[in-house]
Amino acid sequence: MCGIIGYVGKKNSVSYIIDGLKKLEYRGYDSAGISILQDGKLVTVRAVGKVAELEKATLQVSPKGSTGIGHTRWATHGKPSEENSHPHTDCSGEIVVVHNGIIENYLVLRDKLKSLGHKFKSETDTEVIAHLVEENLQHIRSGSNEEKLLKAVQRTNKEISGAFAYGVLWAKTPGLLIGVKNQSPMVVGMGKGESFLASDVPAFLKHTNKVLFLEDGEIALLRADGVNVLDKDGKTKKPKTIKISWDQQTAEKGGYPHFMLKEIYDQPQAIEDTLRTARTDFSKILGLDTAALRKLQDIHIIACGTAYHAGLVGKYYLEQFAGIPVSVDLASEYKYRTVPHKPGTLAIAISQSGETADTIGAIKKAKQLGFRTLAICNVLGSTLTRVCDSTFFTHCGPEISVASTKAFTSQITSMYALAISLGHANGNISTTAFDKLYKELMRMPKAMSEVVKMEYEVRHLTRKIYKSGRFIFLGRNVNFPIALEGALKLKEVSYRSAEGFAAGEIKHGPISIIDKQTPVFMLMPHDSLFEKMLSACQECRARGAFVVAITTPSGAAQAKDVSDKVLLVPSVSEFLQPILNVVPLQFLAYWIAKRLGCDIDQPRNLAKSVTVE
Ligand code: G6P
Repeated sequence: MCGIIGYVGKKNSVSYIIDGLKKLEYRGYDSAGISILQDGKLVTVRAVGKVAELEKATLQVSPKGSTGIGHTRWATHGKPSEENSHPHTDCSGEIVVVHNGIIENYLVLRDKLKSLGHKFKSETDTEVIAHLVEENLQHIRSGSNEEKLLKAVQRTNKEISGAFAYGVLWAKTPGLLIGVKNQSPMVVGMGKGESFLASDVPAFLKHTNKVLFLEDGEIALLRADGVNVLDKDGKTKKPKTIKISWDQQTAEKGGYPHFMLKEIYDQPQAIEDTLRTARTDFSKILGLDTAALRKLQDIHIIACGTAYHAGLVGKYYLEQFAGIPVSVDLASEYKYRTVPHKPGTLAIAISQSGETADTIGAIKKAKQLGFRTLAICNVLGSTLTRVCDSTFFTHCGPEISVASTKAFTSQITSMYALAISLGHANGNISTTAFDKLYKELMRMPKAMSEVVKMEYEVRHLTRKIYKSGRFIFLGRNVNFPIALEGALKLKEVSYRSAEGFAAGEIKHGPISIIDKQTPVFMLMPHDSLFEKMLSACQECRARGAFVVAITTPSGAAQAKDVSDKVLLVPSVSEFLQPILNVVPLQFLAYWIAKRLGCDIDQPRNLAKSVTVE
């Protein structure tokens, strides 16, 4: 994630851009920058921190110009610093670029451009775009400057791969701003005598509600008096605008009433973005060669809250695919228990924010014990990533809702990628097996986009059960942590009493709390443990429970016989199934909380990131 805003009009663009950036801060907030075309020269101001810091710095420089671009950053390549902040420039300083996404082949391109004499100033992938446009411009001889810039951008797009939405300004084409969209979002706002380019509508909604959502491969040429759009084949396209009726607040949530709901729907994209870097050689990330990897004796996973549940799923993955024994600890417990010192131990800390005090404290202890440390984290530059020897980033973008959803599924996805990679490297699984598992993993964004269609059905179900005082969630094996997560989600946002158990355990105690109409959610995909889950359904039903079976299509008929409601989740391989199974439970928590009138994004007594012990 990152936020882009651009303005071309007749007024001074600075306040439009700063204001737009503030509205986009939810997309990233570790640094920001602005470039204004003033008297034929680009004036760039950048600052680390929130947009307020940039605003202060801009006031001092006080640029003026009716064309400009701005960016608020959520770091993916290179730490949050002034040099890595956007806009990025070419060698001449006449071209500036703001970008959202990841240029996958940037290393190859950077080497090539360096060999052609280009000088790089940052560690970012974005800077290659500015230099590529500059390089391409040098080879285009005919046409006006505007035509040349467009051609250079088109050539650049052919060379870069990955997800990218970017905006370009060239000092030699005043009054023209070019926007490009491929996989990352980009919208155009058509005002009266002014045009806007942005990552999201709230950035300019105050000024115009006439909006054009660009499609992948499209290029927009923005001028004060209008916008031209070229389709992916370079042909002029009639812009199809729509009128947005959202108010400002709704627009920030992408039209959803709450960030939690938006983030549930973000999951297909979040997983896709996380997977972009998943075919990574983890031994390289870990800094361990094959011999050292083979000597890994033990893995300790440390985390809190939802991240702890992702760790529990990770244990099943690592033991299954890498064949290494794993213990999973709540960070607050790990810190104070006796942890035997054992050489060849890897400690993994999972955290969305990277700022959870308990997790940081626990991983520091692991370091003191001489263990190698790895962070699975969503925030570049966070404390955890600085403490650990290495980090694998979940690229799910900022998560605003206190109740974690997209970070959780991205964390599990990362654990799966780590497990198969380690298993392949230490010889526990063959290359053929690895390739098959990897292919299955790559199908998850699509499966995820199917499973989010369940909202309506879950919403309907909650009408019947939302007043219940107690909810039970049951699962086995790799779905047991999902039962825990389902209960935690519901507790967090609806304040209802909810508990998750391993289904095999209910007869050892928990069944005593089931009485008439207690909603019991059964995580029971049609796998090797399905029969056992059918028995658990019957045991609960015999006590009067209202049983909801969450299963896969081939289990539907049998599940129907032993439950009051069946929710069907698309079927994927047994070990990936939990990533899908949690989604109906996220909707469930959301809709129960909504019906009960709770403060969904900021539940009472909770904080997004707990930075005290
Ligand atoms: C807090 C949040 C939880 C989160 C936990 C761990 O308790 O309310 O939603 O799961 O912290 O946060 P982390 O940022 O370390 O993943």
